[in-house]
Amino acid sequence: MTFDRVWLDANLCTMVAREGDPLGVIEDGAIAARDGHIAWVGRRADLPADATTTTQCDGAWILPGLIDCHTHLVYAGDRAREFEMRLEGASYEAIARAGGGILSTVRATRAADEAALVAAALPRLDLLLAEGVTTIEVKSGYGLELETERRMLRAARRLAGLRPVSLQTSLLAAHAVPPEFAGDADGYARHVAEDILPAIAAEGLADAVDGFTDSVIGFDLAQTRLVFEAARRAGLPVKLHADQLRDDAGAALAARHGALSADHIEYANAAGIAAMAHAGTVGVLLPGAFYFIRETHLPDIAAMRAAGLRLALATDLNPGSCPAPSLLLMLNMGCTLFRLTVAEALAGVTRHAAAALGLSDRGMLAPGLRCDLALYGISRPAELCYWIGRNPCLGRVVAGA
Ligand code: NIG
Ligand code: FE
Repeated sequence: MTFDRVWLDANLCTMVAREGDPLGVIEDGAIAARDGHIAWVGRRADLPADATTTTQCDGAWILPGLIDCHTHLVYAGDRAREFEMRLEGASYEAIARAGGGILSTVRATRAADEAALVAAALPRLDLLLAEGVTTIEVKSGYGLELETERRMLRAARRLAGLRPVSLQTSLLAAHAVPPEFAGDADGYARHVAEDILPAIAAEGLADAVDGFTDSVIGFDLAQTRLVFEAARRAGLPVKLHADQLRDDAGAALAARHGALSADHIEYANAAGIAAMAHAGTVGVLLPGAFYFIRETHLPDIAAMRAAGLRLALATDLNPGSCPAPSLLLMLNMGCTLFRLTVAEALAGVTRHAAAALGLSDRGMLAPGLRCDLALYGISRPAELCYWIGRNPCLGRVVAGA
């Protein structure tokens, strides 16, 4: 047996759960890669062969490359002024209703060309990668018309060519009602379903379709359904911003459409949680947005656990509700704010995040999967959840390189 490359003298957090060991730890381990995939994982002493390239890890910990399964990485401008307004007493919702919020980022993004969008997003992407992220999802949703939605998705695809990273795109045209359709959310939802979505799908620019179901500042269930039905016709999987600010039965709607994930879900009710678990819809927790908009209603983690729901954790990186380009910070917030265990939090940025993107070829250290690795100078995996604002990442490997 020959390998292209082996990593030796490492501690492995495989995320392949075993009885009594949800992290699947292998101390003094080794990993071998061939053709960009993991060919062998185990104890160093059992390694069956050597390779042309050998990396000594000096006791570092290796995890599957981290996966940020929910970001709005591509946008122009910032919303620091709104942050000030919120400190002066305005709410996230009141700002949105007054034409600020998402629509202020829409104005800035419409005015930016593709090169400007790439240039603005790249430093944010680099911060995520520096922490060990190897797969990232990027949404559109600040164009709200075909040209800009397309430009955002093209910018996202371009980023994937500029850095070693896997990038999945989601069309989020149903993020807010644009000024051209003010007062006519029905009309805009139809326009998304009949015009924007088919055009984007035909160009192969989206890997999935997302929406924002919210009875006050987003789309209602019927409007979301229109968009989801168009996604099915185009052969694209769906996901949903659901039950973020109130219980709108978004979780159940996502489950009914076999969504890959329902995200935020602070207000998801028991029936919605059960429906998600039954449908295999992953729950994506976004503690950074919860923190930044000072939400106080916690997601019902106990009910989610009891239902056997798979939970992912993501940054939701965006200018309005979470300007935090750090998935490691989300590990800490998932534990401190939502009381996730270390094993739950780490599964949330690895194997469950892979499931949230419909990817079965990553998220664990196991033979046959992509050789996407993140190396850390830590004494135990819990350190990744423990630190606030300290990045112990030593390096990344993407597809074996
Ligand atoms: O995931 N809920 C809607 N969308 C984003 C916020 C986007 C924004 O405020 O610009 C979210 O929190
Ligand atoms: Fe979001």
